[in-house]
Amino acid sequence: MIYRMIKENVYSVGAIDWDRRIFDELIQIPNGTSYNSFIIKGNNKTALIDTVDPTKTDELLDNLKRLNVDIDYLVVNHAEQDHSGTIPDILKIYKNAIVVTNSKCKELLSEFLPIPDEKFKIVSDREKLELGGKELEFIITPWVHWPDTMVTYLQDDKILFSCDFFGSHRATSDLFASKDIYMAAKKYYSEIMMPFRAIIRKNLEKLENIDIGIIAPSHGPLYNNPEFIIDAYKDWTSDNTKNEVIIPYISMHGSTQRMVDYLVNSLVERGVNVKPLNLTCTDMGEVALNLVDATTMVIASPTVLTGPHPSVVYATYLANALKPKLKLVSVMGSYGWGGRMLDQIRGMIGNLKVEIITPLIIKGFPSQEDYKKLDEMADEITSKHKILGIIK
Ligand code: FEO
Repeated sequence: MIYRMIKENVYSVGAIDWDRRIFDELIQIPNGTSYNSFIIKGNNKTALIDTVDPTKTDELLDNLKRLNVDIDYLVVNHAEQDHSGTIPDILKIYKNAIVVTNSKCKELLSEFLPIPDEKFKIVSDREKLELGGKELEFIITPWVHWPDTMVTYLQDDKILFSCDFFGSHRATSDLFASKDIYMAAKKYYSEIMMPFRAIIRKNLEKLENIDIGIIAPSHGPLYNNPEFIIDAYKDWTSDNTKNEVIIPYISMHGSTQRMVDYLVNSLVERGVNVKPLNLTCTDMGEVALNLVDATTMVIASPTVLTGPHPSVVYATYLANALKPKLKLVSVMGSYGWGGRMLDQIRGMIGNLKVEIITPLIIKGFPSQEDYKKLDEMADEITSKHKILGIIK
């Protein structure tokens, strides 16, 4: 994508990856993504903020040529390859460029890339760098989503270059986001940022006194209404959950499906919102997305070789790793001749600070007695949601 001017002497020079469909060989990105990088031209010095994924090096270099700039400072907000992978190519061409980053990021970059020590300038929290008429300020914001992450603030134009923080996987020629970015940004948050909810809250507090007019993340469109994404992050990272139950499940022969269908109806009758997620046709990103606000997760599975179905194991592992703000968990499912599914699932959710709702594991198809127990499970969930004050 050809460079675009954001403000006078501030340009977006990165690349859009229209065709990418998977990130880290893990996260489905059906709408592609972008690797945003930025040029800031001061009266005396020019800075490049972050680079692009190595697959898009030529696009970045073409834009730098078009702008006819020299690079004095290469600011690196984060060491992950999609932002740092082109650093060696930049240093080869722009021989005087100095890599400006924090000490943790330098440590990681030195392990991943052939960058000589003398090319680094290490900056600390709130340190400033004068470009001549434009001044950069570096704010260390760790764990969004690696230990090295920082953001760069250009006070003169009120632009916060936030790298992964506030990003979204969306390939678009729109420079600025419209409100329809919300779900893409939320999915990105759920998959990448959610495990670091507590420290992200601290980082949001740290940004509170900064006058931000534009947030320029390194994935997806920019925000010229920064409160839109900041408020969303405040909501997602808060301890507040919604009146929502998610049921990630698999059913092999229909027994678990009957239980899921029954529980869904039973909860809806009681005024609880439910999202059944059939894992045979649900992307794990959807599971992550639905974990952002849910109060309760009911894991539902048939028994396979004494334990839960492998797809349910994956979803449970993911939920545990993402550390969502769930308050309640239950398990339901079926078996033919035995198994230890319940113990195995319990052993997989150690990260979740949840109360366990009475589980229900049945033999074969559900009986009338089993349906009664599902009503009791729905009653228990509803009553806990009422105590939490989330049923309107
Ligand atoms: Fe977009 Fe953590 O890299």
